Amino acid sequence: MNNTIQKVTVIGAGTMGNGIAHVFAMSGFEVTLVDISKDALERALDIIAKNLTRMVKKEKITAEDQEKTLNSIKTETSLSDAVQSADLVVEAATENVDLKLKIFKDIDANAPGNAILATNTSSISITKIAAATKRPGQVIGMHFFNPVPVMKLVEVIRGLETTDTVTQSIMQLAEKVGKVPVEVNDFPGFISNRVLMPMINEAIYSLYEGVAGVAEIDTVMQLGMAHPMGPLHLADFIGLDVCMYIMKVLETGLGNPKYAPCPLLVKMVDAGKLGVKSGEGFYDYSQGVKQKRVSALFSK
Ligand code: 3HC
Repeated sequence: MNNTIQKVTVIGAGTMGNGIAHVFAMSGFEVTLVDISKDALERALDIIAKNLTRMVKKEKITAEDQEKTLNSIKTETSLSDAVQSADLVVEAATENVDLKLKIFKDIDANAPGNAILATNTSSISITKIAAATKRPGQVIGMHFFNPVPVMKLVEVIRGLETTDTVTQSIMQLAEKVGKVPVEVNDFPGFISNRVLMPMINEAIYSLYEGVAGVAEIDTVMQLGMAHPMGPLHLADFIGLDVCMYIMKVLETGLGNPKYAPCPLLVKMVDAGKLGVKSGEGFYDYSQGVKQKRVSALFSK
């Protein structure tokens, strides 16, 4: 087993992938960021540079640290080349079962035999992903939270066959990158999304049933429960399509209709109102800032 993790390959240059690359590089690891799209890789490097500049301005890191961090991130469009000498691979591709199973088959075929294969999936079974490889004992969930450079938690998810040694390595590694790891078992939604998503879904039901408007629901949770963002704002931030998908995973995986996504959530996804990324969700982001939507549906 690989106890000296130094080379980390991150698959997927989206929001989570670039955040994960950022934290590993900042902690002195050699990072290779992989995406099939060159544009996505360029965008990711831009975002990492901007987020590091923000940290320099706040005097959390020096300009020298920033340069060193950026210099330790390589980019690559070929997955097989990128994992060839990796000690750890962290997959953060789109949340799609078939895609992830294919990616894990490819990683398994090309990464060194002692490499640990981690996935940042928010809801897909680690056990199922592990079964696509010939090393299920070395496959584990490493679930980061958005924005990755800020959020302290890493949910470490053990698949059915994940070994104690691999789990310990990943727990220690998460600490090395300045995070707090929490070990959980592989069940639909793990702990984070099993608890968070039904709360978000219930907030959407409260709106759907006319109990209160968007701003009122969010204010109750922000000021009454000290949540940094209200649940509807958070749903927009996560992506309404992602929220709906995770609710469906909970509904099917736990076999209980209480997890069915609220009809309003489904309707908004059908309409392409996905939250921040589409410019509109429970709030309007089309002007680059969060604004109330002018609609009877959203303000009771
Ligand atoms: N990179 C680096 N630093 C960042 C950053 C980024 N991408 N985004 C924000 N920051 C820093 C800011 O510089 C600031 O630093 P400071 O404390 O030193 O001043 C700090 O974070 C707070 O940022 P802002 O002042 O800009 O804004 P807020 O105070 O409103 O905080 C927030 C923004 C951190 C996003 C906060 O609203 C929050 O914690 N929201 C909840 C986020 C959350 O719940 N995330 C989990 C989503 S679920 C998930 O990811 C799992 C998936 O499976 C669904």
